[in-house]
Amino acid sequence: MNWTRKDLIAIQDLQPEEIIHILDTALTFEEVGQRDVKKVPALRGKTLVNLFIEPSTRTRTSFELAAYRLSADVVNITATASSITKGETLKDTALNLQALHADIIVIRHSSAGAAKFLADRLDVSVINAGDGAHEHPTQALLDAFTIRQKKGRIAGLNVTILGDILYSRVARSNIHLLTKLGARVTLAGPSTLVPRVFEEMGCRVCYDIEEAIADADVINLLRIQHERQRQTMFPSIGEYAAIFGLTKERFDRTKPDALIMHPGPINRGVEIDSDLADCKRSVILQQVTHGLAVRMAVLYLCAGAQPAEEAA
Ligand code: CP
Repeated sequence: MNWTRKDLIAIQDLQPEEIIHILDTALTFEEVGQRDVKKVPALRGKTLVNLFIEPSTRTRTSFELAAYRLSADVVNITATASSITKGETLKDTALNLQALHADIIVIRHSSAGAAKFLADRLDVSVINAGDGAHEHPTQALLDAFTIRQKKGRIAGLNVTILGDILYSRVARSNIHLLTKLGARVTLAGPSTLVPRVFEEMGCRVCYDIEEAIADADVINLLRIQHERQRQTMFPSIGEYAAIFGLTKERFDRTKPDALIMHPGPINRGVEIDSDLADCKRSVILQQVTHGLAVRMAVLYLCAGAQPAEEAA
């Protein structure tokens, strides 16, 4: 297909065939990661700026490595080491990066809508690396890539997302992607963090963890997003772990081929028993590895996008 989007802001915006195209493109890039020389010239001469106004380990590093593997130049900017601390606005910061001939800005920001705000005002490609509790599109894409690799398909699978759904951008992007591609999505956790309004997104909402995971092909665990919670959402971490944590006893009662996923960072002993995080059916680190190929695909497609009016 002809890729026409210069930006990747939200899975909600994408057609199912666009999602499949990114996943298929990522498959071709995964092979690059297995070569001795892990580099192709696809983005030679292009400059990527990683503008991370919130902390990150996996996403920032993997966008940086993805850009290097595509032969792009990379500049990393964090909030504390930038003139944002002197009162410069996000728009002015980004306009200055564009004036320096950046070709792609990858942005993570605490405010929902920050990536779209920039994409609407800049000529450069803008990639959303997580905006508040709104979306984290490349996380959902790498999760889908991992499910496809392990299960061979997404349509018809039962995927349970367990934890803090309300404050999770990963949950929203996954819900959009999985329902677009025909999976059945169950959301589970405390009622304060999994309000019934999510049923309007085409999900089943369940407050009994045993019931939520009984038929799951994939269990995607989410940590408590303390940084976005403005009030106490449950009595204590200990109580949360006891009622909603994935323990060995609970996991032993699931399907024998159910996968454990987690976007990271994991909080061992809270949403997941430490041993389970490292067990054979956990694909948590494989998700991280797949993130590299998925982000290469996203950078390659968006930086080379041919807008629909030009392609016509
Ligand atoms: N999954 C994820 O977004 O991790 P980081 O916050 O470390 O980037």
